[in-house]
Amino acid sequence: MALETLERARQEFLAALAEAGSDPARVEAVRVRFAGRRSGMLRDLEEALKSLPREEKPAYGKALNDLKKLIEESLTAAQRVAEDPGKRREAVDVTLPGRMPVVGAYHPVTLVRREIEEIFLRMGYSVADGPEAEDDWHNFEALNFPPDHPARDSQDTFFLKGGLLLRTHTSPVQIRTMEETPPPIRVIIPGRVYRCDSDLRHSPMFHQVEGLVVDEGISFSHLKATLEAFVHVLFDPRLKVRFRPSFFPFTEPSAEVDITCVLCLGKGCPMCSGTGWIEILGAGMVDPRVLRACKLDPERYSGFAFGCGLDRVALLKYGLPDLRLLFGGDERLLRQFEGVKR
Ligand code: DAH
Repeated sequence: MALETLERARQEFLAALAEAGSDPARVEAVRVRFAGRRSGMLRDLEEALKSLPREEKPAYGKALNDLKKLIEESLTAAQRVAEDPGKRREAVDVTLPGRMPVVGAYHPVTLVRREIEEIFLRMGYSVADGPEAEDDWHNFEALNFPPDHPARDSQDTFFLKGGLLLRTHTSPVQIRTMEETPPPIRVIIPGRVYRCDSDLRHSPMFHQVEGLVVDEGISFSHLKATLEAFVHVLFDPRLKVRFRPSFFPFTEPSAEVDITCVLCLGKGCPMCSGTGWIEILGAGMVDPRVLRACKLDPERYSGFAFGCGLDRVALLKYGLPDLRLLFGGDERLLRQFEGVKR
């Protein structure tokens, strides 16, 4: 009988607490009614223990203790929620599905840079880099740019305070490499470059990758074979590579290098303006004056160099129509590269 009283009290308590919800005044009323020191139901039930027959006392005492614990703990929890309704929202719902971690994607320019690095690493090159805030000697002077060369014009170059400038190409790292490392040299130099130029096809910051080989007996045929192998691995073994005579202050002879259009494979399309060819590189034999500026003897050493716009390669490789897509930070573009590993 006595145990039934406890069970009834338990149910009454739970019903009253559920009804009180998170209203602080009503939770307090439930506390007074069940756990109040003077007249609470628990106190009465404790009193009742005294008058029970001895054999019923242990079972009743245990059940009463359980009930006390339940009432105290439930009240404490209900009071906490009543004081701060936010707590309820914090409660953990273990049945909810887990949140998937957001996995980033490599930027197409990073993908292409890594792919190019890998191709040259396999050919025995190492990767080099240099400062983006460069001095006049490395960016121009040692590369045989005469003092009045138009590329030095403030139209093209961002000049910094203190006589430095933002490098306008990755070629200054050629100079740094030759100054620091004796031949044989085989390096690939990717990096950011800056020019004061911004329109549909130009961004003031863009990416280049530079190659430099210096050793005894390096000839133009080494350059041709290297670039052909590179283009075939990067794009497609069916592509032809074409060298057109050109001029750069730091190479002699110099060439601009075209490849068969990767979209139409030479048939002619809007991408190649109907010519079937796309220009992707500048290259040439390191000018003897550049070797001399780096204290290398041009009678003993020769070398080749090339420079290539990484952003353009990324556009070609992934069929993107517009340079600005690369620098717009639009997640919808980047999401398409999720899972592409390099
Ligand atoms: N530095 C040149 C530029 O910014 C690209 C270039 C052309 C680099 C020919 C080279 C080279 O190493 O041999 O346009």
